[in-house]
Amino acid sequence: MFKIIEKTELAPKIVKLVIEAPQVAKKALPGQFVMVMAQEEGERIPLTIAGCDAVKGTIDIVFMEIGKTTVLLGKMREGDFVPTLLLGTPSRIEKFGTVVCIGGGVGVTAVYPVAMGLKKAGNLVIGIVGARKKELVIFEKEMKSATIALKIGTDDGSYGIKGFVTDILKEMLEVGTHIDLVYAVGPLPMMRAVSNLTKPYGIKTLVSLNPIMVDATGMCGACRVTVGGVTRLCCVEGPDFDGHLVDFDELAKRQKSYLKEEKEIMNM
Ligand code: FES
Repeated sequence: MFKIIEKTELAPKIVKLVIEAPQVAKKALPGQFVMVMAQEEGERIPLTIAGCDAVKGTIDIVFMEIGKTTVLLGKMREGDFVPTLLLGTPSRIEKFGTVVCIGGGVGVTAVYPVAMGLKKAGNLVIGIVGARKKELVIFEKEMKSATIALKIGTDDGSYGIKGFVTDILKEMLEVGTHIDLVYAVGPLPMMRAVSNLTKPYGIKTLVSLNPIMVDATGMCGACRVTVGGVTRLCCVEGPDFDGHLVDFDELAKRQKSYLKEEKEIMNM
């Protein structure tokens, strides 16, 4: 059990928790996630580590209150304890050249540590951040610190350019911007659209998947995704996979399998 030492509402229904977890903070690498429970007997959900401070022994997690567990987590206060388990394979951090790091919605909090790691590895990192509207744009300051240029888009045009992250990426591709790698985290349709855009250009594209997880030990198979025709387990082999090889149709179907139950629980 780890103690919540700071709680901040970054935007409506988007909460950041700073959790005291010295061992996790010491070991965590960009791209890894933690399994978090809001109740002892409750559902476990994967949340990417948005930041960590090995000296203070803390990790940051950010989530949007959209399901039962995230709503319960959002009700927790500073001083409360939350079970947390470090998991996942770290992102590949090496020198690729020019890397475009794309974060959609809360996904930007997962992109930020990877963007920072890539910057430290000597890459030229360009950031693209997208949100529905201005008040939902988060981690702008953090992303600016990790990139040489940051482009922001909102669906309603209330901040940055009016459009999706894919509109910004498309324009960069059409004007011939040299890109060696794209790393994208956000809603499934966004990651699929980014992968479809870069495929004809042959630009390697990594996406961080967030399928349903149950035991998170590689035993239950709940988090399976098909990548290049092969079944992979996101909890132990992910969350990063080659976006050009992910079967997004199958994944989208699996993501919707518990929608009815989730709605019922939320209405209880
Ligand atoms: Fe059970 Fe990954 S969550 S195998």
